[in-house]
This record gives sequence, C-alpha cells and structure tokens, in this order.
Amino acid sequence: MSEEKRVAVVTGSGRGIGKGIAERLAKDGYSLVIADFDAKTAAETAEELKSKGFDAVSAVGDVSDPEAHKTFVKTAVDNFGRLDTYVNNAGIAQIKLLQDETPEDMQKIFGINVFGDLYGIQAATAQFKKQDDGDKIRKIINASSIAGHIAFDLLGAYSATKFAVRGLTQAAAKELGKKHITVNAYCPGIVGTSMWSLIDEEMVKQLGGTKGEYLKKYSESITLGRVETPEDVANYVSYLGSHDSDYMTGQAVQIDGGIQFI
Ligand SMILES: NC(=O)c1ccc[n+]([C@@H]2O[C@H](COP(=O)([O-])OP(=O)(O)OC[C@H]3O[C@@H](n4cnc5c(N)ncnc54)[C@H](O)[C@@H]3O)[C@@H](O)[C@H]2O)c1
Repeated sequence: MSEEKRVAVVTGSGRGIGKGIAERLAKDGYSLVIADFDAKTAAETAEELKSKGFDAVSAVGDVSDPEAHKTFVKTAVDNFGRLDTYVNNAGIAQIKLLQDETPEDMQKIFGINVFGDLYGIQAATAQFKKQDDGDKIRKIINASSIAGHIAFDLLGAYSATKFAVRGLTQAAAKELGKKHITVNAYCPGIVGTSMWSLIDEEMVKQLGGTKGEYLKKYSESITLGRVETPEDVANYVSYLGSHDSDYMTGQAVQIDGGIQFI
C-alpha cells in the first residue's frame, strides 16, 4: 500500500489495459475514476472494484471531447476531494493501408489518440494548479505503444498517433516540470485485449488467412515467449504512478516482453 490516499483518473478503463491499470492503482492505495465512453463497462468495473473494498466511481465521456476530461476531473474532485494522477489510456486502432485512409479516419484516430491526450493533459494540469500541493509531484501518464517507436505497416495512422503521443509527452514534461508535474508514457507490445482481436480480424480481411493467425505471427517476435497481459502493463504504470518515479519525466518506455530493442 502507498504512503497516502491518492486519486487517479484512468480513461478507457471499462476494459482491457485501462481496467488492469485501474485495478492495480486501486491495490496501490488510489481512489479511482473509471472513465470510459462505454457507460456499461465503466459502471461494471467501478462496481467490481467497490465490491473488493476499493474506492471507485465511473464517469462517462468521449476523450476526443475536451469537456469529457473536465467531467472526469470534476468527478474525482467531487467524490474524493482532489486529483493526483491522470492516465490517458483510451485509444483506438485502425487497420488500413495509408493509401486507403480517409480524412474522416484520420480525424477520428487523431481525435481520440492524440487530441484526447492533449485535452487530458490540459484538464489535469488545470486541476493541479488549483490544488495547494507544495512541491508534491503530480503525474500524467499517457498510452503510447511499441508502434510509437517503430511504425507498423497496416497500422500507419495508428503508429503516427503513438509517435505523436511521445512528442506530446516530452513537450508537456518540459512545460510542466517546474510545476511539479511529471509526464511519462508507457509503450505496450502485443497485449491480448479486444484491440488485438480487432487487429487480427482486420488483418485476416485484408491479407487472407484464418482467425488468430496474425496474433500468433506477431507474437513469435516476443522474446519472453508469451502474449502480454493488462497486468504486465499495469505493473509498470504502478511504478509511474508511485513516488518511486518522482525523478522521471518525459520518458516513453517499452514494456513489451522484448520485441524491440531500441
Ligand atoms: N492491446 C495492445 O496490444 C496495445 C499495445 C500498445 C498500446 N496499446 C494502447 O493501450 C491503450 C488501451 O488499449 P486496449 O488494448 O486496452 O484497448 P481496448 O480496445 O481493449 O480498450 C479500450 C478502452 O477505451 C475505451 N475507449 C475507446 N475510445 C474511447 C473514447 N473515444 N473515449 C472514451 N473511452 C474510449 C473503450 O470503451 C475501452 O474500454 C490504447 O491507447 C492502445 O492504443 C494497446
């Protein structure tokens, strides 16, 4: 358990990696806002945490809308009195050749994966400024990806958004460091969530083959020999959300079981 009760918002935490992060931060002593645009899964995750004795509430909103982040922060403050950590986890993938990307596709994926993180940084920072926290470090944590270090074909737009998340993370870290706010990113590899089921399904449609084939093929590149779990990612985000990482900012570390060595 941590030193004191802290409060975190995790976007996209109704399921998948975000849910894993929320569960881990709850175990670390955080009170949680389960923020998602899927009201059902958000409420279910919050209830599940509460049934285990943790503090959690749900909040509904689309991260591509700046107002949603204001709602998430307000939910934290109204229920738990403050905000310590903001995790911009929500994101989507698109599986398309760059040649086939439409303006609408690009608006959508950048709206969620990049603008969504920017609006989260803005809303969290506005709240941090209101709190009289002295030199206590507050934290913003963004979801990038191994695809934010080396781009993948058929995931071109997605890769571009995750490179952009690293850029935002570095710039925000530089702008906010003197305000006692750190900004870091986590870069998962191949995590067995709904997102990878979709990637696999769409690759079958584009390239042929059978269900599960592309997950299996890409998984062969994992040095540790197994697909990543949300808990594997959450173990690292737990560090980013703890005081142990207070002297780290602007970084985007790959937590991928050893797929890429850069
Ligand atoms: N799964 C992987 O292998 C993998 C690898 C690297 C990075 N990531 C990143 O990790 C994050 C989580 O991925 P995941 O695998 O858990 O995905 P997922 O699709 O399983 O879950 C995403 C969650 O975000 C929510 N969400 C989606 N769009 C939203 C929006 N506009 N507003 C609010 N909520 C929204 C969904 O309802 C869902 O609960 C994403 O940013 C993703 O890009 C995933």
